[in-house]
Amino acid sequence: MTSVSIKILFVFLAFAAIGQCIISLPLKKGYMPREVQTYNKKSYLRSTITNKLVNFQDDIYIAEVQVGKSKQPFEVVFDTGSEIFWIPSAKCDTCKEVEMKSYDCTEEDECITTDYVAELQYATGYAAGNITHFNVGIPGTENIEYFGILVSQVGYLPSGFDGIIGLTPICNVAEGSTQPNLISQLYETKQIEKPIISFYQAFDVDEKAGKAQSTVTFGGFDESKVVGKVQYFKIVQKNSWFIPFEEFEVDGVKVYTEKGSALIDTGTTSFYLRPDIAEKYFDNIQKRGIKIGDEYDVPCDSEFPNISFSLRNVDGELIKFEIDSSFYVTPSITKKNVCYLYFEGLIGNGPQMVIGNTVLRKYLPIFDYENKTIGLGRTINQPPRTYPSKSEQ
Ligand SMILES: *[C@@H]1O[C@H](CO)[C@@H](O)[C@H](O)[C@H]1NC(C)=O
Ligand SMILES: *[C@@H]1O[C@H](CO)[C@@H](O)[C@H](O)[C@H]1NC(C)=O
Ligand SMILES: *[C@@H]1O[C@H](CO)[C@@H](O)[C@H](O)[C@H]1NC(C)=O
Repeated sequence: MTSVSIKILFVFLAFAAIGQCIISLPLKKGYMPREVQTYNKKSYLRSTITNKLVNFQDDIYIAEVQVGKSKQPFEVVFDTGSEIFWIPSAKCDTCKEVEMKSYDCTEEDECITTDYVAELQYATGYAAGNITHFNVGIPGTENIEYFGILVSQVGYLPSGFDGIIGLTPICNVAEGSTQPNLISQLYETKQIEKPIISFYQAFDVDEKAGKAQSTVTFGGFDESKVVGKVQYFKIVQKNSWFIPFEEFEVDGVKVYTEKGSALIDTGTTSFYLRPDIAEKYFDNIQKRGIKIGDEYDVPCDSEFPNISFSLRNVDGELIKFEIDSSFYVTPSITKKNVCYLYFEGLIGNGPQMVIGNTVLRKYLPIFDYENKTIGLGRTINQPPRTYPSKSEQ
């Protein structure tokens, strides 16, 4: 888990199914999600809750959920690109191989496993197990009733976390009913003031040097981590975080001008471009004589192009976002003058584009479940290195 850069792409593979829910299995009678409990008419516990987000080598960011009456902690990926929650069961041997924690589902802990089996296929890896009713929360809240998968098998997943919590705008359907996502339920049970989740993702080197700490905020966003105006974008489909994408430039030259959409995905490492756009980007790279290796490895002392992309905001204006190589190139931990490109082409008929953590370190994402918008604000992050980098030669 050191020399190779592990790029993670946690979006469901079944892109054709976006617009439908992945789980549409009937649940046993009596196991239907119960109405959201109404808490005594108290006011909001807090307006916002900010918890620690753990940066795993700039690839993925994970945070704690607590499961069961006993509030057992699990480090999971808070993934806006998928919709289901899962953690490993004690019976999952393949989970142990990647050092995941396991959960023992007992009635005393307010957990019920059903006989319905579901398989979750991500672009990176898969997980399978029984649909289960859990009692779930985050540090600082009371738990709520939730359902997800108690996983008995995983495959092709990297280590570093114990599960995934899907955060799509709606979904998690059982027998035609909708389970509100975790954020909406924390809001409905008056534990946060607004149904919003946001992520401040710092650079790994800054965290190690004690200069920054990544955080996840429930109920709003941390204004101290943003400079300038936050721009808001309306989602294009009601149950996924796609927003309108229109232009892509490489070194100031427009290489794409059609209307499309981009998924804002906290469960993905890189910026995934549609194959035809990616080709234009890599043409530019090759024109500079930069040789790309199998793992998108490149010499750190290369001159990389600047890119920009434009998104249409809620007021109909086209807003340009610029990313230079100090944000999208990352040095190898072990090899001298070896860097990794955090730009890739999507394979097959994927969504138009997937904007992952490479970009979200520069633009803090704010997911609003009530108004179905995503805000993006320039973070205070300054890139820890610039390229070409003479010091790494
Ligand atoms: C999962 O479901 C299968 C049947 O679909 C059942 O045989 C098995 O016992 C279930 N596992 C658990 C842990 O309940
Ligand atoms: C690329 O962007 C950086 C940082 O914004 C800027 O300093 C540099 O001049 C740009 N390079 C080109 C070729 O536009
Ligand atoms: C959604 O928009 C309405 C009207 O502009 C506003 O009052 C409300 O606060 C917004 N909701 C959130 C969660 O920001």
